Amino acid sequence: MAIRQIAKMGHPVLRRKAAPVDDPTDPEIARLAADMQDTLEWIGAAGIAAPQVYDSRRVVVYRILADRIPSGVALEPLPWTVMVNPVITPLSEEVGLIWERCLSLPGLHGKVPRYKRIEIAYQTLEGESQRRAVEDWHAMLLQHECDHLDGVLYPMRMTDLSTLAFNAEPGVLAEEAETTPDLDMALRAMVEAWPAREKWLSS
Ligand code: NI
Repeated sequence: MAIRQIAKMGHPVLRRKAAPVDDPTDPEIARLAADMQDTLEWIGAAGIAAPQVYDSRRVVVYRILADRIPSGVALEPLPWTVMVNPVITPLSEEVGLIWERCLSLPGLHGKVPRYKRIEIAYQTLEGESQRRAVEDWHAMLLQHECDHLDGVLYPMRMTDLSTLAFNAEPGVLAEEAETTPDLDMALRAMVEAWPAREKWLSS
């Protein structure tokens, strides 16, 4: 088991286009994926791309935690999934705005336009080709992670930078949380913990 350091915004590895993996069954890729999983487990986060652990290859690891799913949202918890050489195809032009955070931009969040329905094709560590059609939060997560493989961080996708804020001052998010019952539980917890909440939301 190895927990790896996370590259932060500004490091060149995050701007580089990651290299395709020639052999997904190479034990070195399995080791990389296991380290990425250990790192996520340690932090308590949902997804990570290899460039975020200073490895410029096309590997994504993620899961969907039951306690991150808001009540009433049709999303199933998902065990650890490793995707080698993932390729995303939008299944419709429909785009939604979704709040995102990133381990490589600690302390920040912002609202990002993402395709609502996508198909993702990838290889497993056993070298099998697989496809998954996903939507909403699940689709957003995968678009976010796969962007890392092309050197793209979420602020580069944002169309309204006024929603980019510190997690310690989640003003716009807090306003929205009042009227959005299906907000990601981790984001809701951030809003609840905002010290200035009462002062700014009661006026
Ligand atoms: Ni990220």
